[in-house]
Amino acid sequence: MTDYMTMTAGTPVSRSSAIKLYDESGFAGMRKAGRLAAEILDALVPHVVPGVTTGELDDIVRAMTLDGGGVPATLGYRGYTHSCCISLNNVICHGIPGDKVIRDGDILNIDVTPQVDGWHGDSSRMYIAGDAPIKARRLVEVTYECLMLGIAQAKPGNHLGDIGHAIQQHAQKHRYGVVRDFCGHGLGRVFHDSPDVVHVGRPGTGPELKPGMFFTIEPMINIGKPDIKMAEDGWTALTRDRSLSAQFEHSIGITQDGCEIFTRSPTGLDAPPYGA
Ligand code: MF3
Ligand code: CO
Ligand code: CO
Repeated sequence: MTDYMTMTAGTPVSRSSAIKLYDESGFAGMRKAGRLAAEILDALVPHVVPGVTTGELDDIVRAMTLDGGGVPATLGYRGYTHSCCISLNNVICHGIPGDKVIRDGDILNIDVTPQVDGWHGDSSRMYIAGDAPIKARRLVEVTYECLMLGIAQAKPGNHLGDIGHAIQQHAQKHRYGVVRDFCGHGLGRVFHDSPDVVHVGRPGTGPELKPGMFFTIEPMINIGKPDIKMAEDGWTALTRDRSLSAQFEHSIGITQDGCEIFTRSPTGLDAPPYGA
């Protein structure tokens, strides 16, 4: 049984097991936060080049977030002290920015979450530094396709399992592994809320999608097996078999007849290649 909770102006901001259903003012809030997330990811394109460090990219994200009237939601989140996550090559997610230098042929995910007027825009994209092997570029391409096929299932009357199923089918067609240990999530005025959005599933299972639901879809796809290994730092998740991993993330809201993507690029830079 799924509980739903209609959000009004007076509703307290808290995490609960009920799935919140937002009104038009929620859509307006998410549109603004999502737009800033997309603009930051757009603006990063010329900066992601061989020689730059992940710490320098984090500084750019922090500056752009503050300039845009937001605050990085990850700053101080459960002890995390950076403005984004940067996950290179065999890192699945939650890579911590630092002294690491980006090298020619690296593929990396940059995940940003600006909070604007209390609303969270959570999005990530893959970037390719210099020339990467076809194997890596193909993984990035298929992972983006997985995200968009999942989003295509996001409409009233469908279930969360339809989204997971579409993603899983496409990844498995390419013999890739879908990570099970991390999932998408509800969001709004809470960063990580109900429901869990699992990236595998069976059609027609899980909570039914209803207008006003806000959540992320953020599939993590490995060239090899889905299994993860946690690094010593307690954050960085790696592929256990050291294979390459890719991820894309959008924040969406269910509408009367489909969904609205809050974090879509205003300039068409949703996935590589981003042009010269
Ligand atoms: N942005 C990530 C997500 O998609 C969460 C990062 S939390 C952090 O949900 F603390 F690791 F930064
Ligand atoms: Co997320
Ligand atoms: Co994210």
